[in-house]
Amino acid sequence: MGRTDSIDTKVPGPVSRPLYRMDQTFEVNAAAGPDFDGPFPAVPVTPTKEFFGHPVASRIGVAASLVLNSAWGETFGRLGFDLLTYKTIRRRRKLAHPAPNWLYPDQTSVSKSRDVPMTLGLALPGDPVSATAVGSIGMPSVAPEVWREDIGKTRQALREGQVLIVSVVGTAVEGITPEAFVEDFCALAAEAVEAGAQVVEINLSCPNVASSEGELYLDTPFASRVAGAVRARIGTVPLLVKIGAIEDDAQMAILLRALAPVVDGVSMINAPSRVLLNRDGTHAFGETRKTAGMMGGVNFEIGLDCVRRAVAIIDREALPLRILAVGGVTSPERIAAYFEAGAYAVMGASALAWDPYLAIRSKQLHPEF
Ligand SMILES: Cc1cc2nc3c(=O)[nH]c(=O)nc-3n(C[C@H](O)[C@H](O)[C@H](O)COP(=O)(O)O)c2cc1C
Repeated sequence: MGRTDSIDTKVPGPVSRPLYRMDQTFEVNAAAGPDFDGPFPAVPVTPTKEFFGHPVASRIGVAASLVLNSAWGETFGRLGFDLLTYKTIRRRRKLAHPAPNWLYPDQTSVSKSRDVPMTLGLALPGDPVSATAVGSIGMPSVAPEVWREDIGKTRQALREGQVLIVSVVGTAVEGITPEAFVEDFCALAAEAVEAGAQVVEINLSCPNVASSEGELYLDTPFASRVAGAVRARIGTVPLLVKIGAIEDDAQMAILLRALAPVVDGVSMINAPSRVLLNRDGTHAFGETRKTAGMMGGVNFEIGLDCVRRAVAIIDREALPLRILAVGGVTSPERIAAYFEAGAYAVMGASALAWDPYLAIRSKQLHPEF
């Protein structure tokens, strides 16, 4: 085993040009692949662990975010991220919102509170890896015939000890019934498995068609109905759900209890909804996109708090559930903090655009992760 106990200075740190072209559309970023041509340092060899029955080199991965397609998946796999989540797909093609999709607030205006709007920064923050960003992409998807083939290609590109998770979401078309919405999730999950998904993640941070308000994960009965129906459809394939932050312990406990019989793990947190304003008070992403998702930086505090509370509930009630930590993963120290908090796996997202070497540096310090 090639074990290293300290950071190898030969491994580069953050990059000066992000892998995701923030001035371009999502579709351009998908088509062109990551804006990155290496170097690709050797990935430390680490002892094999298990991830829901699959042997893996680590339980460090990429959340549904920057694996836009197989070109992106191949790159992050080569960089030692072992749990690759294929960004959320749908059963119909949907274009992303027009650019901009990724902006940086003035960092002094960043707040954990949902009631405090942030102000657009005048320039990129000095340390973009650990900064807080705001994203409004719109959960796009290529057509099923495109992702079907591309998911297979992503599986082919994985190395030994790596696993492909595919994130899925039902599409809430105008007037859809709750039954049809549930069926859309089920059919899509089955198609994702057929295409090559080794683990399925249901994205429950989408609009709730049962009550037409809020997001699906905030409606426990409907969330567990979707998860139960998907479980019945995909059999023993490991199943995850992705949720946003929950502040109330009682609500968290109710959701985890309801999900535990049907899912294997819960990924938390998705990007919290926030308002980003221009200096003149207009909305930075435009008046039709008043809220957007907060990414990176400050999410660590929110995510760590959620993970700690979820793990405490799971331990107390002996629920058969694992927590995958997402939110503000910007450094090896933060990866370690999530594992120490009891996370089963730790997933990077927005910060990986600036620090694609995070998995390698973390593995050097902690081969046991
Ligand atoms: C470019 C980008 C695209 C994303 N797309 C999705 C998505 O399709 N599905 C999803 O569940 N989360 C998506 N997310 C949210 C991330 O998975 C993650 O929950 C969120 O960014 C918080 O992690 P962070 O603070 O490390 O960025 C996306 C994030 C980014 C940066």
